[in-house]
Amino acid sequence: MIVAIDGPAGSGKSAVGRRVAEALGLPFVDSGLLYRAVGARALEAGIDLDDADALTGLAGAIRVEVEGGTVRVDGRDYTARIYRPELSEAASRVARIPGVRRAVVDQLRAMGGGNVVMAGRDIGTVVFPDADHKFYLTASVEERARRRAAQLAARGERPDAGALEVEIEERDRRDSRRAAAPMRAAEDAVVLNTDGLDLEAVVGQVLQRVGTEGARRDRIESRDEPALSEVPPEARRAPGPDPGPRIELYGLMRFLVRLLARVYLAGGLLHVSGLERVPRSGPLVVCANHASTVDPPLVPAFLPRSDSWSMAKAELLVRPGFGAWVLRHYHAFPVVRHTPDRRALRRAAEILRAGGVLVLYPEGTRVRAGGLREAEPGAGFIARTTGAPVLPVALVGTRECFPGGSLLPRRVRVEIRYGPPLRIRERRPDGRRVENQEAADAIMLAIAEQLPPGARGVYADLGSLRERLSGVWEPALGPAAAATGDGG
Ligand code: DC
Repeated sequence: MIVAIDGPAGSGKSAVGRRVAEALGLPFVDSGLLYRAVGARALEAGIDLDDADALTGLAGAIRVEVEGGTVRVDGRDYTARIYRPELSEAASRVARIPGVRRAVVDQLRAMGGGNVVMAGRDIGTVVFPDADHKFYLTASVEERARRRAAQLAARGERPDAGALEVEIEERDRRDSRRAAAPMRAAEDAVVLNTDGLDLEAVVGQVLQRVGTEGARRDRIESRDEPALSEVPPEARRAPGPDPGPRIELYGLMRFLVRLLARVYLAGGLLHVSGLERVPRSGPLVVCANHASTVDPPLVPAFLPRSDSWSMAKAELLVRPGFGAWVLRHYHAFPVVRHTPDRRALRRAAEILRAGGVLVLYPEGTRVRAGGLREAEPGAGFIARTTGAPVLPVALVGTRECFPGGSLLPRRVRVEIRYGPPLRIRERRPDGRRVENQEAADAIMLAIAEQLPPGARGVYADLGSLRERLSGVWEPALGPAAAATGDGG
């Protein structure tokens, strides 16, 4: 298997690649080292960095070996200098020369031997255009400069953050504008924006897509990552049959909510449809419209997944008391609404990474009157960056059943309609980046499609929305959906 991981300087491709290779039991090759080696030898030999012939000759003869953390070029130890900024610059300059690239690409192909994880700029486009899996990592310049600074500091250097930003921007420009094999995402690459994500999260996403979620989960557990300790144990448990007779409070509470709803709405008032569309295992983002106080208890109760967690407004959970106790045991976790709450986003990513279900309401608040209102970008961000399938859930009649301010629910028809799962793409087929808001709108469109026309609110114009959001999403036909026989 060949896994190509491309991306600009500081996008994390080598760190991610190394970990992915380790998890898959494959060798890892950092292709940048070869260009660095050519640059280093050229500087030593006093070769002009524009002298194509001399550099091409040099590249054809260079030998780079990596053993443990030691990098040897032509038999000599270069570990201490190979990552220094002046060699980054030299590497980027020699990498513009087609002859140098040809020589390096030949070497890289030979190193692969059909089984490798390789990081670089052109691995998915030029070196291994037929790679089994292709990823393209991105991140903002500021974030990448911060990572580079931390990396250099760990090697005992004292880098200047501002200078690093300038250097990275300059290198981005040169690497992406050169004529020979410019840095870019392959058309069939999965583009992952790693801003705000830690190494673990990115590695998890890559492995999930390569299809080793299970193996990965075992590894995380055995190392007992502190980040994962926040995820309740049920989220970490491998999906499957119930492990034993132990009664889970959450399971009991969900059962009671179902019972209550069925008794109260007896006589055919409660309808659940599309159950066959719910993936029974693996990560899933469940997104529902929100019009009534009964929605948050109802959605997880009827969802056939006990490994689910719901985002709840932090106000409900901060004050200790019976309410907060119930909510916590009902697997609610706090989100500070209308803000990019990093902690909540991290927790959401962890739940999904562990193969669990995240329940949220993209509108960000209970909508007391009228149809759907515009979604906040948060749900889009989560779906886009985790790549998890999204299950649209349309709630019909819950407001009429339990309008704000009323004491007792009314006996009216209530429906829970599951729509076909979708997946948010990182990029549209034409290469345009998918924005968080567009991703959130695509999710709302999928909900609106399941709602009666009068309840669609700002998402009523399905036709023009489908056109505007085409390419933002695709049907999720992952293994989980396929296992339930769902065709989308
Ligand atoms: O990944 P890195 O920062 O170590 O790479 C150093 C330079 O090498 C980079 O600025 C451009 C060049 N390079 C390339 O052109 N193609 C690759 N596949 C890898 C690196």
